[in-house]
Amino acid sequence: MASLTIRKLDEAVKAYLRLRSASKGRSVEEEVRVILGELIRGHVHDQGQAEPAPALSAAQAAARPARPASTTGEVRITLIIGGGIAAYKALDLIRRLKERQIRVRCVLTGAATRFVTPLAAGALAGERAYTDLFDPESEFDAGHIRLARDCDLIVVAPATADLMAKMAQGHADDLASAILLAASRPILLAPAMNPMMWSNAATRRNAAQLARDGVAMVGPNAGEMAERGEAGVGRMAEPVEIADAAERFLRPPQPRPLSGKRVLITAGPTHEPIDPVRYIANRSSGKQGFAIAAAAQAAGADVTLISGPVELDEPHGVKVVHVESAREMLARVETALPADIAIFAAAVADWRVANEGGQKLKKTDAALPPLALVENPDILATISHLKERRPPLVIGFAAETEHLIDNAKAKLARKGCDWIVANDVSPATGVMGGDRNTVHLLARHGSRIDVDSWPVMTKEQVAVELIAHVAKNFPTG
Ligand SMILES: Cc1cc2nc3c(=O)[nH]c(=O)nc-3n(C[C@H](O)[C@H](O)[C@H](O)COP(=O)(O)O)c2cc1C
Repeated sequence: MASLTIRKLDEAVKAYLRLRSASKGRSVEEEVRVILGELIRGHVHDQGQAEPAPALSAAQAAARPARPASTTGEVRITLIIGGGIAAYKALDLIRRLKERQIRVRCVLTGAATRFVTPLAAGALAGERAYTDLFDPESEFDAGHIRLARDCDLIVVAPATADLMAKMAQGHADDLASAILLAASRPILLAPAMNPMMWSNAATRRNAAQLARDGVAMVGPNAGEMAERGEAGVGRMAEPVEIADAAERFLRPPQPRPLSGKRVLITAGPTHEPIDPVRYIANRSSGKQGFAIAAAAQAAGADVTLISGPVELDEPHGVKVVHVESAREMLARVETALPADIAIFAAAVADWRVANEGGQKLKKTDAALPPLALVENPDILATISHLKERRPPLVIGFAAETEHLIDNAKAKLARKGCDWIVANDVSPATGVMGGDRNTVHLLARHGSRIDVDSWPVMTKEQVAVELIAHVAKNFPTG
């Protein structure tokens, strides 16, 4: 007999089961057994319904999947900003949601207006922000009910301990709590509070009650708090995380072209030590490799990015491994295998110092210390020539300052990879460290090499284009 895991059921089904079982004083499992029994005995058939469905509270109704409340196809969020120190991040959240073509209507609690102004929230949202339950301008037609219903999702960020308590108890003594009580749409909370407030038994009870009521939560995260010297769980999820969570409610995920594929990417320069304080490096910024990692992640891939020393923010949702030298990079690449696609965008130093000093080299009157160089391992060639665990698609980068295409063709043959992205990095191009790139994609088909030259693009555009090519050419399944 197959077993049934309640946890894996649809949220709306779970909310219905919880309510129905609670009203009968039975466990959820017992209730499932009762429903199945009734089904088998034909009750449902005969009566159209096993038992009268319990009326769903607003929050339980909120467990229903979102459906567009707008007839225009526009997606709308009512954003309730609570009175916590993280309220300033709600302003960034408005921006992130607007970037995703989501209409945002803001409601600020009285306490929230002490942290951010309705003017700032309204200006970012592009429409007036609401603060007052007894606002004569919006309440002549019960505006709080409209704010609760005329949207596809209600997001509370930051959700204060106080707001959570009010929701759990069903209070409606201000605009925010009245909207939340009148809601017929899903509710997503982004709690933010001091770790002691979050771990307090009252907040634990309220959070558990809200989860039972079908209210969804994103965060809180662990980390440093705004208050000096405070750390722990209670930090509001980052605006991008909240926007991602909101989007999952609003737009069910579409199958993405690289879903389920493992992509391994290298980026940045390597540092080859001369002594404990000096090293040999190159001018690579890592921007192109990081942009490729972000594009692959957006295409649904499971991305590992192995990066030399760079000063860039880690792309969201990407596993980043930091290394210094070429040998370290190769070791981490080998550990990260197997992968479906490997893209080697790092500018790996060809040589390292053979006689690396254990102590800082001293300036003396004697002659300059000789720097003997030895060749570094060739990561692209090593992985391309693997007998086992060679990724089915290996892509290298050829940074050249002359005879770009000829050198790239020779490199493609020599390294044994499948594609080469060739770019001219002579100083006049500004590619090294810059934001734009002009590339040529060379692809090997047996003995034939196809060259596809792309116009000047930003490094992000090059990344998106490259990942689109990968998705098109990489055999799925
Ligand atoms: C400087 C300052 C920061 C605060 N930060 C938080 C916070 O991060 N989270 C929280 O739950 N309450 C915080 N509070 C307490 C709330 O502002 C207070 O509980 C308020 O009544 C919440 O109102 P609201 O839930 O209607 O927004 C803070 C208070 C002050 C004075």
